[in-house]
Amino acid sequence: MFAVYADRAEPDDPLAALQLGERPAPDVPEGWARVRLRAASLNHHDLWSLRGVGLPSDRLPMVLGCDGAGVDDEGNEVVVHAVISSPDWRGDETLDPARSLLSERYHGTFADEVVVPRRNLVPKPSQLTFAEAACLPSAWLTAYRMLFTRSGVDPGATVLVQGAGGGVATALIALGSAAGYRVWVTSRDESKRAKALELGADQAFESGARLPERVDAVMETVGRATWSHSVKSLKPGGTIVVSGATSGDATAAELTRVFFLQLSVVGSTMGTRDELARLLQFCATTGLRPVIDAAMPLEQARDGFARMLAGDLFGKIVFTR
Ligand SMILES: NC(=O)c1ccc[n+]([C@@H]2O[C@H](COP(=O)([O-])OP(=O)(O)OC[C@H]3O[C@@H](n4cnc5c(N)ncnc54)[C@H](OP(=O)(O)O)[C@@H]3O)[C@@H](O)[C@H]2O)c1
Repeated sequence: MFAVYADRAEPDDPLAALQLGERPAPDVPEGWARVRLRAASLNHHDLWSLRGVGLPSDRLPMVLGCDGAGVDDEGNEVVVHAVISSPDWRGDETLDPARSLLSERYHGTFADEVVVPRRNLVPKPSQLTFAEAACLPSAWLTAYRMLFTRSGVDPGATVLVQGAGGGVATALIALGSAAGYRVWVTSRDESKRAKALELGADQAFESGARLPERVDAVMETVGRATWSHSVKSLKPGGTIVVSGATSGDATAAELTRVFFLQLSVVGSTMGTRDELARLLQFCATTGLRPVIDAAMPLEQARDGFARMLAGDLFGKIVFTR
């Protein structure tokens, strides 16, 4: 089958590790299911994999891609939940210490076919296209859990989203405004700030700018470049929900502010299968759709990876079959 895969780790030049070509079709173990992919979407995770983060050399070559939607062998239109938990794990899959994300231990979705445990398939609502559905299982699910499960703040609260252009960030803006939060965003880029306002943000600020007032919660995926601003932007008792660190780990934790203002720092990772099913229903019911920066055939995946590496995107990159 045709696939996009990593054959080595290139920490400083991830595109050099990117390969496109024929790979063996995966076997289907008992209790697992094959999905013929119709669309897949790119995440920053795929760049981390090419750099060798979370993907040791003994697992290479590895087909990349966490997110996908397609048709199973029974003809059902399905979305793939990317968190693969142990067979005997029950409950919140994101808390399973032995979990992996598709493309870390099992081959991913940038291919003609992917094979996953049957319980990882979620029905695709007919209202969503394959491309739209394929945007939801990682970045959008992460945003859904950050806002609705982990932040502890209710609609009406003011939420700051750092780094407006990212896949997780655009999902946070769209979901937050649709659910009645007052969403403020930061971005280094003026055109991304304008697009964030179109997407439903209430106000957009330059990265690091002083805000008109402090916020109830901050959604953090940027890391070092924005961490200090995130801590300083919170009201006493406020919460930072952190699910990524694109620019690296924070060098100063700002502990004095954390304890004196009684701030909460809450980690969040992906989401459960049930949260994915609710997110799909949320989109089907409200008419909300993921922001797609660009869609291209899987054969042109290198262009999509380059666009993400340059930080030159607003929303998701989708690969179609
Ligand atoms: N924990 C999880 O379950 C989970 C799931 C998905 C993603 N993640 C993580 O979350 C992070 C974001 O993922 P993504 O797919 O949304 O990535 P992405 O689409 O590449 O977004 C990154 C955004 O961060 C901002 N940014 C990057 N470098 C920056 C810098 N030096 N200074 C200021 N802003 C910077 C940019 O926003 P502006 O250009 O607008 O400033 C950029 O658009 C990644 O680290 C990823 O690994 C975690």
